[in-house]
Amino acid sequence: MPATRVNVSIPGEAPYDVRIGAAVLGDLGADLARAGVAPPRRVLVVTDGNVEPLYLGAATESLTAAGFAVDSVTVPAGEGSKSLAVAGELWEAMAQLGLGRDCAVVALGGGVVGDLAGFVGSTYMRGVTVAQAPTTLLAMVDSSVGGKTGVNLEAGKNLVGTFNQPAYVGACTSTLATLPEREWACGCAEVAKSAAIDGDDFFFWLADHSVALAARDEAATQEAIARCVVFKAGVVAADKTESHGVRECLNYGHTLGHAIESLAGYGTFSHGAAVAEGMRFAARLGQRLVGTPEELVAAQDELLDALGCPALPWRAPAPALLEAMRRDKKARGGEVRFVLLRDVGDWVVTPVEEPVLLEALADWGDAWA
Ligand SMILES: NC(=O)c1ccc[n+]([C@@H]2O[C@H](COP(=O)([O-])OP(=O)(O)OC[C@H]3O[C@@H](n4cnc5c(N)ncnc54)[C@H](O)[C@@H]3O)[C@@H](O)[C@H]2O)c1
Repeated sequence: MPATRVNVSIPGEAPYDVRIGAAVLGDLGADLARAGVAPPRRVLVVTDGNVEPLYLGAATESLTAAGFAVDSVTVPAGEGSKSLAVAGELWEAMAQLGLGRDCAVVALGGGVVGDLAGFVGSTYMRGVTVAQAPTTLLAMVDSSVGGKTGVNLEAGKNLVGTFNQPAYVGACTSTLATLPEREWACGCAEVAKSAAIDGDDFFFWLADHSVALAARDEAATQEAIARCVVFKAGVVAADKTESHGVRECLNYGHTLGHAIESLAGYGTFSHGAAVAEGMRFAARLGQRLVGTPEELVAAQDELLDALGCPALPWRAPAPALLEAMRRDKKARGGEVRFVLLRDVGDWVVTPVEEPVLLEALADWGDAWA
């Protein structure tokens, strides 16, 4: 099956290609050269401890064959590596290696490596070229595109970072064969989110292909990634730095999702599982507030079930959930905001008053108890 290419064009930024296909990692060197990152430049590949033994060899081989001089750094797998301490180690390693402003950083891994390496690359010597080689479904459909980079602080996630578009994104779908089931479902939840916000065409395509996607069928996977990239590129083009309110739509399902992650304890449920539950809740809240049709609620439930994101058997008292939402960095002055759907593709961001939210959260709790 041939690779798919999506060109991302964001006002004020150099356009870049996202290539999606089963053999894309083998073309990494040639694709980078085609993207204007010409050899014999030096390339630093940043990866994590799980991805290194699986895919660093192929990435290095491809880059070397294209004439690049390659170094690599492996960070521990997991969210803990999105820290200033690890970013500092990478900056130091780059300086020790003598990498100059003309080097390029390639992020080989999931969203953690992508956000971390993107941040380090966009700040080392005031910014060097960054390319993304995502290896999780979530990174392919979401985090590798759009230019948000960052690390976490004790006080919260992604509190330090940059907006910095990559020069190239190579999504090699054959790397997904080794992705654990939990991580696959996590990516599927983000695909469902994108489809619900994007509109009928994507949503009903996904409903028809959800079983194939859950089974990791190659054609369905490539198309789902390409549709998500086109969707996200459109949102980012309209609101590159999250200042016009458009990018906020990407938070669909995240208001309750973040509260679940925080109250259940990070890692208890995957981010995707929490977001999927958040989408189920947002659809029901939308029924009360903006007339979300019953059929949409049912179709979304069915879609999430088919994608391996079942309803969560977990609840917390409504006041505790409300408090967690108020603390979320996306809340404004303690005002809790939700992305709601008037229909598929017809979203609105709205503050929700406390009594209404408490009642809806209590009903959500009763639905399981
Ligand atoms: N920048 C953005 O716009 C954006 C958007 C969404 C999420 N994010 C960030 O992305 C991060 C989550 O990304 P993620 O879900 O990819 O998590 P991750 O990077 O932690 O990867 C998940 C796990 O899968 C492993 N892994 C990666 N590729 C693999 C493969 N092919 N085979 C086997 N194992 C593999 C990793 O080592 C890790 O253990 C969060 O930090 C989140 O904040 C950023």
